[in-house]
Amino acid sequence: MLVIRSAARMAALARRLARQGKRIGFVPTMGALHEGHLSLIRAAAARHDVVIVSIFVNPLQFGPREDFARYPRPFRRDLRVARAAGADIIFAPSARELYPGGFQTAVEVGPLARRWEGRVRPGHFRGVATVVAILFELTRPTSAYVGQKDYQQALIIRRLIRDLRLPIRLRILPTVREPGGLAMSSRNASLSATARRRAAALYRALRAGRDRIRAGERRADHVVALMRRLIRAPRLVRLDYVAVVDGSTLEPLRRLRGRVALVGAVRVGRTRLIDNILVDVP
Ligand code: PAJ
Repeated sequence: MLVIRSAARMAALARRLARQGKRIGFVPTMGALHEGHLSLIRAAAARHDVVIVSIFVNPLQFGPREDFARYPRPFRRDLRVARAAGADIIFAPSARELYPGGFQTAVEVGPLARRWEGRVRPGHFRGVATVVAILFELTRPTSAYVGQKDYQQALIIRRLIRDLRLPIRLRILPTVREPGGLAMSSRNASLSATARRRAAALYRALRAGRDRIRAGERRADHVVALMRRLIRAPRLVRLDYVAVVDGSTLEPLRRLRGRVALVGAVRVGRTRLIDNILVDVP
């Protein structure tokens, strides 16, 4: 496995691989790799000649009061587990390398970035879209792999690929969970065992919402009220938002039809956690 720090070297190698007709699978990450990331790397390895994994804690997507400095960076362990999952190349640039002096361009995303995570974290998705566009340009992948766990982010990346006409196939893979149901996240590392049990309240509520829809409920406000009650009443976590939205636009719904997403965010102590479930309403 090759570790590349230089953007110019990464770009030159990706272009050489493309000339040789290699199919490149790309998995963008911020490191602190867990089973969620590894499922993406394994899926990429199963379908591509070369798997590139980027590890870059992107300062552009963190707000001033967010956890950029505290974000975990277990780099040597990341290399080991990424290699075991099938990574061929790790691209791990410094912030200076990716954003050299004078850098001042951003990729601005429209309405899709304004709601939910975008509202709580202004500028977050602009930072994500900007770094992902740069990483796509440097790695020139055939396909990119992202997790459903960050569903709004996945839709934004899909939009970016379409709008900028990038010749990249995006694959959105299912959320990998801990045994208690909590969606795996690099931020879970900062949770105690008790906090993890509390945090699972979000997924339980989303599942109860899904079950209510499957049982025939078609009024979004009823499903939202149920989920709110389940999250608030036990007072295990603080609720940021929970909603039932259109699965492609993320706009709130009144009556449920087509592909619907149940989305939510909670806080446990200083840690903010998000989750979602998709339901196809007949
Ligand atoms: P990061 O949080 O490291 O996540 C990298 C990828 O792993 C994302 O596509 C994310 O959705 C996926 N992922 C995280 N937890 C997962 C889980 N439990 N199951 C399945 N997939 C999971 O998302 C980012 O980094 C950054 O915003 C990035 C796209 C790299 C841009 O900086």
